[in-house]
Amino acid sequence: MPKYVLALDTSHEVISLGLARFSGLSFAAAQPFGEDAPLEMIDQLVLPAFRAANSQLLVQVEELLKLNQVSKSDLLALVVARGPGSFTGVRIAIATAKGLSFGLRIPLYGVPTSLACGYSLQLRGTRGWVLLVSDALRKEIYPSLMYLDEYETGVVVSRLDTDFVVKPEAYLAKLEQQIKENAISELKLVGSGLEKYSELILAKLAELGVSVQLGEELEGYAQGDGLIATYAYAESQGFASGDPASVLPIYTRLSDAEETEREKLGLGLSSGEAFDPEVLAPQNFIRLLNPGDLSALTALADGSESDWQEKHFASEFEASNRSWFGLFENSELKAYIGLASMAGEMHVMDLFVEEASRKQGFARRLLERAEAEALERRCRELLLDVRVSNTPARALYEDLGFELIAERASYYPDGESAYVMRKELLSEAQSEELWGREAFEKRSESGARILALESSCDETALAVIEHGQIVSNVVASQIEFHARFGGVVPEIASRKHTEALIDVTTAALEQAQMPLSAIDALAVTDSPGLIGALVVGLAFAKGLSFASDNPLYGINHLESHLYANILENPEIELPFVALVISGGHTSLIASEEKGRYRTLGATLDDAAGEAFDKVAKALGLPYPGGPHISRLAKLGDPTAIDFPRAMMHSKDYSFSLSGLKTAVLMHIQKEERARRELNLPNIAASFQQAVIDVQVAKALSAMEEIGAKWFLLAGGVAANEELRLALQEAMSAKGYRFSVPRMAYCTDNAAMVAATATDRIRIDEPLGLDADAKASAPLDTL
Ligand code: KG4
Ligand code: ZN
Repeated sequence: MPKYVLALDTSHEVISLGLARFSGLSFAAAQPFGEDAPLEMIDQLVLPAFRAANSQLLVQVEELLKLNQVSKSDLLALVVARGPGSFTGVRIAIATAKGLSFGLRIPLYGVPTSLACGYSLQLRGTRGWVLLVSDALRKEIYPSLMYLDEYETGVVVSRLDTDFVVKPEAYLAKLEQQIKENAISELKLVGSGLEKYSELILAKLAELGVSVQLGEELEGYAQGDGLIATYAYAESQGFASGDPASVLPIYTRLSDAEETEREKLGLGLSSGEAFDPEVLAPQNFIRLLNPGDLSALTALADGSESDWQEKHFASEFEASNRSWFGLFENSELKAYIGLASMAGEMHVMDLFVEEASRKQGFARRLLERAEAEALERRCRELLLDVRVSNTPARALYEDLGFELIAERASYYPDGESAYVMRKELLSEAQSEELWGREAFEKRSESGARILALESSCDETALAVIEHGQIVSNVVASQIEFHARFGGVVPEIASRKHTEALIDVTTAALEQAQMPLSAIDALAVTDSPGLIGALVVGLAFAKGLSFASDNPLYGINHLESHLYANILENPEIELPFVALVISGGHTSLIASEEKGRYRTLGATLDDAAGEAFDKVAKALGLPYPGGPHISRLAKLGDPTAIDFPRAMMHSKDYSFSLSGLKTAVLMHIQKEERARRELNLPNIAASFQQAVIDVQVAKALSAMEEIGAKWFLLAGGVAANEELRLALQEAMSAKGYRFSVPRMAYCTDNAAMVAATATDRIRIDEPLGLDADAKASAPLDTL
């Protein structure tokens, strides 16, 4: 059965894909293609995709696989371009590839886009010096001067520098120096940066007497074969890990906020030299082995007492019920475990740790991984044999929870007997609950088992819901990264999501004690929010959905804030009025029919949370300011300062908070001019009270107009105790029911997304592979 490697790149406003057939023993090859080489290119394509990377990438992947009659389960490994290039483009390919890698459980390798471009040119016959100039936008370029050689020479593409970003004018001096040092008399010039800067660069090259061949537009992009060849080279040099969590974009500059910070601190601007996060790859990690590991595996097994040989391993990789995992240290295979699943039992066929790597807990880690694999493959027990004389191994297995269940007399070739040991992972009832038909049917009434993802702002969050109960809820907050800038920096948010995805997903499934195979559907926040942040979560979720055949539902962030209430109080009845009040929103919403909403009114300027944060900043309090203001307010007098209550009597449901914010700022200035010490508690309490008074007044008139029974409070600012109390009192005085979620469900989380999805999947169609994120999306259109 042929196996394939798929490469993807969206770093330069094009979609570049490659598909290669693998027939060797190792991916590592100085020369990946050609006679006796391990890989054969099957298909590749480069398509223009301006702003369409997210909507088109997986559509094109599906098409490419279909055209070549390759099923996704035949994919052995993925290669993705890590840039440098368009920030969002790079992240879309990486997030999508991470979703595919996680869902298919195959390794993911990252390669620099510029190096892959060099390989692409080399494979098409270019030799000698090449100058690649990619457009970095904002009047900057990513230049790469490289020498392309024959395969026989070993290093096929040598670059003079790692990736960096620079202003074209400033680059000329460096270029001149390198041209002279290397006595370059001719070169080929390619890249997307030529559209704007060819004149400048050509003039410099002419001045230096270099004869220039201008490349075609297409030659400035990485092609599928170039991406795969770059990976094969990286593997042959031993610096590829395959661990999807460690594949990150190549950043050649800090975010704008961080640059400004450096400048302020007098550190000057960063050099623009690439810092390569893949260097941060874990020292050792475990992954599923595949035919590309055959030579390493056979070499390692040679040192064990087993009689496993290359041909056995090769057929192991063919069998669909087998899983072999390897533990790698510094990209070298140090230990492995072989597993076979049979009728709900997972058998350990072999477990081996090389002599020099013993006593480091590798066997234990492989066995723990085997347990996860057993569950993934719907097995409820793990079985293994151990030599009767091997007391240390038996002690380890017992410690891990294995029990002795039988003895096999004279089991080994030398006549020694074996003990059979067993670990029950799930009881029969539990396994029926996880995978059984009946349990599945029960879920179709009470709601599917859903894995949900939220990345609309500064939290990367995943949760699992089952029968309407949250069984895991993991939030990776980025607040500390944004705090020093006094607010959420969109560029940093988007980077951090890309970094956190795999670890948070793993943690959420672990906490739910559920393999991906037990999930019925996926859900993801696809609007509204920071577009660069939404896109990362959506790309990952689409990759995961495509890989795992789970339908994916797009969830509106505002609706999910409302559902934090429904999750807590399932008895909430229609019609209800809700106030969503957070860092990004201040909206009064009515719902008279399940899943349908009418926005009664929203803020005309700042959101309430934003006002809290800005006032806090003016008072010298850290970000996010809301909690600090409310803490200070407890010590102050809410009637001390008469701040304006804008639009309190406007007879509609619009809010305006920027006037209040300005009034507070002016008050601070006035006090400072008068050299009076600021009374922080009084300012905080009076500001907070002004916000609360308006909210309560509008909430009450909305309740009356709609004739609602329930009032729901939601969003980050719902964590404010005074606001909760004021609304609760006002509502119960009028005989209305009041609901507010626990604190953890007020701020952004994925539990509320999962809860929304439980209902949404009965109403909506799943998202297509071409779905894209939306920065704004009123609830009224649901
Ligand atoms: O819902 P959320 O986590 O993110 C958005 O979707 O915006 O809300 C974050 C906002 C921040 O502005 C934060 O200052 C505010 O909620 N917040 C508070 C309190 N706790 C958080 N505002 C007032 N009082 C609080 N106790
Ligand atoms: Zn939110």
